[in-house]
Amino acid sequence: MCVIDKSPIIEARRVTLRAPTMNDVPRLASLGGDRDVSRMTTRMPWPYGRSDAEDFVGRCQAQDRRRDNTFVLDLEDEGVVGVLGLFTPPGGQLEIGYWIGKPFWGRGLATEACQSALAWAKQDWRKRLVVAGHFADNPASGQVLIKAGFLYTGVVEAKPSVARGAVAQTRMMVWLA
Ligand SMILES: CC(C)(COP(=O)(O)OP(=O)(O)OC[C@H]1O[C@@H](n2cnc3c(N)ncnc32)[C@H](O)[C@@H]1OP(=O)(O)O)[C@@H](O)C(=O)NCCC(=O)NCCS
Repeated sequence: MCVIDKSPIIEARRVTLRAPTMNDVPRLASLGGDRDVSRMTTRMPWPYGRSDAEDFVGRCQAQDRRRDNTFVLDLEDEGVVGVLGLFTPPGGQLEIGYWIGKPFWGRGLATEACQSALAWAKQDWRKRLVVAGHFADNPASGQVLIKAGFLYTGVVEAKPSVARGAVAQTRMMVWLA
């Protein structure tokens, strides 16, 4: 297994993926506070405020980097525009999740970040398999995952969305290095 002892930094074409710090809290709270963002994720609450962003950064700083690496996405000239995590749920496979702040949708940033994170996971972290799931009513995320090289498994799981306060049909996908 490859051991990662400090926060990795991934340089993509326009975005840099780096560990979040408490300085990022106001920006994360502002962009993550949009319900159109949180309702497409499993874990983000809504409303999402400053204390939620602080808890998030604190959890990232406590990560065991052999299992979990979460990044903020720093866009040149703009600052933080979103988040991408590669994490291992208890008893589960390495999974990818991400969000982009709404003002920055449609510019290929999620695709660029996913592609770069997967290349890093393969080359530097020596990972061979990553799973992902997107809610059935979120085809944009499915498109991001397809462009990053994921395939549909055919499995649809009912997963809870904290922001919705309900379960959502989730289309499961897999990526093999
Ligand atoms: C999903 C999300 C990450 C996409 O971010 P983004 O930076 O806009 O994504 P990209 O620009 O890289 O790619 C989006 C793709 O979806 C496509 N798309 C957008 N809306 C779509 C829709 N309603 N149906 C199908 N495809 C759609 C775009 O055309 C684009 O594909 P293309 O480049 O082949 O044209 C962003 O909308 C987001 O953060 N949403 C809320 C949180 C979320 O969904 N997180 C993922 C949870 S699985």
